[in-house]
Amino acid sequence: MKVYASAPGKVILCGEHAVVFSEPAIVMAINRRAFVCAELRNDNTIHISSKDLNLSGDFTGRRFKSEADESEAAVRLRPIWVAARKTLELSNKNLGVNVFIHSEIPPSIGLGSSAAVAVATVAAVGRAIGLRVSREEICSVAHEAEKIVHGQPSGIDTSISTYGGVIAFRRNEGFVRLKTHVNLSVVIGNTKIERSTGDLVRHVYQLRELYPNVINPLIHAIGHISVMAAEALRRDNLSQLGDLMNINHGLLVALGVSHEKLDQLVAVARRAGALGAKLTGAGGGGCMIALTTPGKTKLVAAALSRAGGDPLIIRGSAGGVRTWVA
Ligand code: PMV
Repeated sequence: MKVYASAPGKVILCGEHAVVFSEPAIVMAINRRAFVCAELRNDNTIHISSKDLNLSGDFTGRRFKSEADESEAAVRLRPIWVAARKTLELSNKNLGVNVFIHSEIPPSIGLGSSAAVAVATVAAVGRAIGLRVSREEICSVAHEAEKIVHGQPSGIDTSISTYGGVIAFRRNEGFVRLKTHVNLSVVIGNTKIERSTGDLVRHVYQLRELYPNVINPLIHAIGHISVMAAEALRRDNLSQLGDLMNINHGLLVALGVSHEKLDQLVAVARRAGALGAKLTGAGGGGCMIALTTPGKTKLVAAALSRAGGDPLIIRGSAGGVRTWVA
């Protein structure tokens, strides 16, 4: 039997990096998804194959075998292996599984691709072994896999990928679902510059150790932005949300996690009439987002495209993880 699961990517509307230090952040699921197909096998091998990464390999016990470049495949497939293995361990049967992955979410640019793959893997493998794995369990097992990607994940990516919608998230406290009456129009601008979330998170840690009296107030200020942004969303006050996103970008620049290409795209989007624009995710490359009114979306996307930032238009939020059998 083949079991399928899909889970959405995300954009962080505000609060990235500060969320690692337990400040709140606001995040929205987007209509780009990761798809996983799981098929049980009778031996104890976990076979993983990713069409998009052009990688595949077999994990048997702690041994890994791949036809391609072994070290690269082992590093990139390891989080998925952890997700599949930890899910299989939820049953006490000695089983293996074939995991086939296809993702519409480009990796390493801040759109939550690794979390979406981990969440979909846990959901598909869980259903394949006949367990009723709750969303809470899916999220918590996927979080273990995310720890391999970068040591200190806040859990925001796995939460939004599991539950979908728009949420206000706080580390160790969970999340609150935010209801908006308007469909948010967001344009993503992709710098196509890959970067490591782990390196950028470590950079903020180091800066905070060196200059705690300067950096801690910046982190708290970002937390205040998220609280006010949640309120702005509840009242559908998009112009205030835009202002807060602009201030948030300035604070992320001060934390040293922006990039000249991100700053350029942010300026271009504001000039083209966006209500607000900022980097999204870990920064250092990756993506920026612009909040627009529906009438300005195409103008902003065209301006980003002319400036070399691959645009992607998102209207409204997407649903969380789902599974089906075919
Ligand atoms: O996965 P990314 O690159 O979008 O970054 C996630 C947001 C951070 O706050 C930088 C890290 C985290 O774990 O919350």
